[in-house]
Amino acid sequence: MTTAVLDRQNPSPLLADRILKAAGVLWFSVALAGQAAFVLYIGLFYGRSAMAGDYGRWNDVLVGGWRAGDMIGNLTLALHLLLAAVVTLGGPLQLIPAIRRRWPAFHRWNGRSYMVTAILASLGGLYLTWTRDGAGELAMQIGISLNGILILVCAAMAWRLALQKRFDAHRRWAMRAFLLVSGVWFFRVGLMAWVLANQGPVGIGEDFDGPFVRFLAFGCYLIPLAVLEIYFRAQRAGTAGKLITAGMVGGVTLVMGLGIVGAMMGMWLPRVT
Ligand code: HEM
Repeated sequence: MTTAVLDRQNPSPLLADRILKAAGVLWFSVALAGQAAFVLYIGLFYGRSAMAGDYGRWNDVLVGGWRAGDMIGNLTLALHLLLAAVVTLGGPLQLIPAIRRRWPAFHRWNGRSYMVTAILASLGGLYLTWTRDGAGELAMQIGISLNGILILVCAAMAWRLALQKRFDAHRRWAMRAFLLVSGVWFFRVGLMAWVLANQGPVGIGEDFDGPFVRFLAFGCYLIPLAVLEIYFRAQRAGTAGKLITAGMVGGVTLVMGLGIVGAMMGMWLPRVT
């Protein structure tokens, strides 16, 4: 069905706007719940074992992990995990319009701290990736490194545009930065959605290699970025474009919800209970 035909069938652009917005809000609400679960996991697993002085427990999960004698690597890892929790908590707060409107000073300060935290977490992640053995093969290292570099670029752009008071463009770059920072979370959620949908680790090798892992190493942030660009365009598109995009965002939310449940049941809950 062409856009023109759909536009004639549904002459209410206002309704289409509302449906598109509702799809975005639904996506964000589900993502918020899933990211809250991730922060809880980071705090309860890594934070609790650190407070008990049992850093070795981290190695139940990590491949590089806590290593005797590697002071710089261990400090970088501990800082990375702490910043990971802070950044995952602070990001969604920036995107809630009511908070932006009611507490603009909080939005400015949380925004600065978010950007600095995201940059430091990415630099630490890059250091860990290229100085230690990690999960998966070279494609994973390259994929996550590109993710880290893109975080640096988008955070810098969002910051610069805020200083120039170009708030529309600032908001778009801040949302790109948010999705990129969520890349590691999307990776886990995407992995579990795939495993659940296929009833097994199809395309995932024993050493955490294989075609699906290679695909997800890049797809975990490039797909969300592509969906966001489509969403931005749909905001200026006709009724049909808005409705199709709302349907797509609804579908993505469903897959994401499945992945969140999978990650909670398969990865996070068993490690904290
Ligand atoms: C900025 C958002 C990021 C968050 C929220 C985040 C979160 C995490 C978490 C929670 C872990 C522990 C693994 C787990 O329990 O699932 C971890 C480990 C790690 N992350 Fe990140 N990360 C981020 C960015 C990055 C980036 C950009 C890189 C690389 C360029 C990176 C590289 C690593 C490495 C190498 C480890 C340690 C793996 C090991 O020791 O086996 N992270 N990260």
